[in-house]
Amino acid sequence: MVFIVNSHLDIPYATTRHDSNKPDHAPSTRNPYQESNLTTSVLVTGGAGFIGSHLVEELVSEGNKVSVLDNFSNKQPKTPGNQFELIEGDVCDPQNVLDATKSVDVVYHLAAVLGVEYAYQHPIDTLEVEIMGTRNILEGMRKNDVKMVIYGSSSEVYGEPSSLPIAETDRTSPKSTYGVAKLAGERYCEAYRRAYGIEYVILRYFNVYGPRQDDRFVIPRFVRAALQGAPLEIYGDGNQVRDFTFVKDAVRLTLTATQVSRAKNQVFNVGTGVPTKASELADLILKLSNSKSSIVLKNFDKSNRPREIEIFNRLADINKAQQLGYKPQTPMREGIAATINWMQTR
Ligand SMILES: NC(=O)c1ccc[n+]([C@@H]2O[C@H](COP(=O)([O-])OP(=O)(O)OC[C@H]3O[C@@H](n4cnc5c(N)ncnc54)[C@H](O)[C@@H]3O)[C@@H](O)[C@H]2O)c1
Repeated sequence: MVFIVNSHLDIPYATTRHDSNKPDHAPSTRNPYQESNLTTSVLVTGGAGFIGSHLVEELVSEGNKVSVLDNFSNKQPKTPGNQFELIEGDVCDPQNVLDATKSVDVVYHLAAVLGVEYAYQHPIDTLEVEIMGTRNILEGMRKNDVKMVIYGSSSEVYGEPSSLPIAETDRTSPKSTYGVAKLAGERYCEAYRRAYGIEYVILRYFNVYGPRQDDRFVIPRFVRAALQGAPLEIYGDGNQVRDFTFVKDAVRLTLTATQVSRAKNQVFNVGTGVPTKASELADLILKLSNSKSSIVLKNFDKSNRPREIEIFNRLADINKAQQLGYKPQTPMREGIAATINWMQTR
């Protein structure tokens, strides 16, 4: 059963949105592609999570009719405000998805199980949510005649690249079950486009960070340790290269991808093109938080984080996104300072 939760009062009540008698392919006159004019009805799966909550805020402020489908597996919904419909439900439940995709123009599909260590320890859960969830979303969209999906993919689909920066046309060779599942999700989007005409935009997020991110990710983990005077633990030798994107920039590109018609049925990297080593990140966080914490190098751990699934070099080529007018606007110092500030006031 799907519950619609009034996010202000937190009172769940059963939805009446389900209508299983609707024919499989009723024609629609809605056009989700209104260049530079986003006044549509949108569903954000995983909208109670980190990226989703920032996306929902923007979508609401742009005047869209927004609903969120989330099972709150992250415990606390992070999306502030109450100007959207909050549906408690699971993307793995076809009925939940069928109900939630009714009368919607665009679906932002961000619900996922993530975190390198969590995904390693829970491969079935990871595969299930990604593969069954994406399949259910596309099938719900097909039945409800929803025209467009924005699919939240990951740089994990590339695996270890042979050169940097990584372009969208480079080889995909994921190392982890999470990366494999994301690639499968991309393929489902392409297949539903060919077969049923559902338009897609695939966004391969690199490392997104900012306020509201969980402590299990590297930046909040380092910031937490720095603020508590605990050591900042880096797996490996600290030379891993990452591309860190502030969440507001990632959301800006996510919205641009929906608004610019030439983005449709395309894949985009969501990054900055700026490389940062893990050791440089730790130094920067210590400096900006005025912390005296130490930096400790840790060996990869077979039971938790094996070397075999680690990606050592990851940097986005953002040329394609730049052609849509995207320009990351938040330098690392500023984004990290905002994250520290948020964590201090939590
Ligand atoms: N944050 C990053 O750096 C990053 C990098 C690459 C890709 N991504 C992708 O971006 C998307 C959003 O990531 P995030 O960082 O906001 O993660 P998050 O964990 O904060 O958000 C995911 C949300 O999905 C929800 N969810 C999980 N399983 C669900 C289910 N079965 N049914 C309904 N809801 C469910 C969770 O409750 C959570 O609110 C994900 O698809 C993720 O794979 C994120």
